[in-house]
Amino acid sequence: MVQIASTITIDGPAGAGKTTIGKRVAERLGYSFLDTGAMYRAVALLAYRYQVNPQDERSLVRLITEHRLDTLPPTQSSSIIRLLVDGEDVTSQLHTPEIGSLVSHVSQWPAVRQKLAQEQRKLAQQGNFVLAGRDIGTIVLPDADLKVFLTASLDERIARRLAERRRVDPTTSAETVRAELIARDTLDSHRKASPLRIASDAHILDTTHISIEEAVAQVLSWIKQEQNR
Ligand code: DC
Repeated sequence: MVQIASTITIDGPAGAGKTTIGKRVAERLGYSFLDTGAMYRAVALLAYRYQVNPQDERSLVRLITEHRLDTLPPTQSSSIIRLLVDGEDVTSQLHTPEIGSLVSHVSQWPAVRQKLAQEQRKLAQQGNFVLAGRDIGTIVLPDADLKVFLTASLDERIARRLAERRRVDPTTSAETVRAELIARDTLDSHRKASPLRIASDAHILDTTHISIEEAVAQVLSWIKQEQNR
C-alpha cells in the first residue's frame, strides 16, 4: 500500500481559513483535526474564569498545572478533536470576544507554549492528523509530511471574521473586527516565542480569491504529489 502523508500542518494568520480548510481535508482523508488555537483559547478561558493576569507567565503555568486540559477524540460524524477543561467540554465557549482578546497575550509565553506544544506532539504521534496553528510546521512538527501556509488579504480576513461574529452578535462593527485582527496579527507575528513564520518547505496558498473547495482540492493535490514522490 502506498504510504500517504500522515501529519499535515496548516499555519497562517487569523481568518486565512485554516480551520475550515483543515477540517475538510481531515474529513476527506479520514484523519483527526486539531485546531491548536483552541488549546491556547482553553488556557485563556481558564485565565478568564480564575481572573489570572494574562501578562503573568508563572500564574498561567500554574493554572495549566492545577487544572486538567484534555482532548476528546473525533467521532464518526466529526473529525474535530474537542477540548475539555476539568472534564467539561468547552469547545463551543472558546470563540467569544473576551477569549479572543485574551488569547494573544496568553500565547506569547514560552512556558505556556512549551506545555501545549508537548501535548500537540503527543497527539500528532498517533499519526493521521491535520494540525492547524501558527508554529506547527516551524516549531511543533518541523518533520511533518506536508506543510501548508495559508494567507488571505487583510480585507478578506476581516470580512470572514465579521460574518462569523455577526452570526452571534449582529451589531458587531467592521471597525472593531479590523482593530482586533490587526492587534492579533501584530502580537502573533512579533512575539519572541515561536512567532508566526512560513516554514521554508511549506506550500503557500493565498485563499483571498478562491473557494473553500478549491483550497481543499489544492491541499489534497499536494498530498497526492507527496505520496507519488
Ligand atoms: O487560530 P486562533 O485565532 O484560534 O488562535 C488563537 C490565538 O492563539 C492566536 O492569537 C494565535 C495563538 N496561537 C499560537 O500562538 N500558536 C498556535 N499554534 C495556535 C494559535
